Amino acid sequence: MHFSICLCALFVAIVNQVSGMDTVIGLYGETVEVPCNNGAPKPKDLFMTKWKYDNGDLLTQLKDQEASVIATDKYKDRVSMAENSSLLIAAATLKDEKTFTCMVVAGTDISEYPVKLLIHKAPTGVEITALAAELKIGKPTQVAFDL
Ligand SMILES: *[C@@H]1O[C@H](CO)[C@@H](O)[C@H](O)[C@H]1NC(C)=O
Repeated sequence: MHFSICLCALFVAIVNQVSGMDTVIGLYGETVEVPCNNGAPKPKDLFMTKWKYDNGDLLTQLKDQEASVIATDKYKDRVSMAENSSLLIAAATLKDEKTFTCMVVAGTDISEYPVKLLIHKAPTGVEITALAAELKIGKPTQVAFDL
C-alpha cells in the first residue's frame, strides 16, 4: 500500500518536470529562435547569459559585451544570440530537435530555463492559397486532386 503511493508520487513529480518545460516550434531550413525565459526582460543585475545543450556550451554573453560562440561542433557557425537573449539557430534541421538551456547569472542568482525545440516542415504558401480558394468557390471534390 505504502509502496504504490510512493510510486504514484514519483510519477507525478516526473510529469510535472516535463510539462513545465517550454516547447518552441521552428521551421525546417529557417533560422529558428529559442527564447530565453519566454522572452522575459533581462534582469537588472544581469552578469552573464549562456546557452548550452547536452553536448556542452554554445555561446555566452557577458553584460554589455558581444556574445561569443563557444561551440566547436556543427553549431559553431550556426548559432548566434539576439539582443533579447534568444538563441538563434540558422538552417534548422530535424537534428536540432533537442533541449537547449538558457542560463542566466544575475547578482548571486543562477537560473536555468530549458526549452525543447521541435522542427516542423512548413506547408508551402501556394498549397494553402489553393486550398482556401477551392473552399471558397465550394468545389470540395477537386481539392484533393489540385494539391
Ligand atoms: C528577440 O529578438 C529577435 C531578433 O531581433 C526577434 O525576432 C524576436 O521576436 C525577439 N523575441 C522575443 C521573445 O522578444
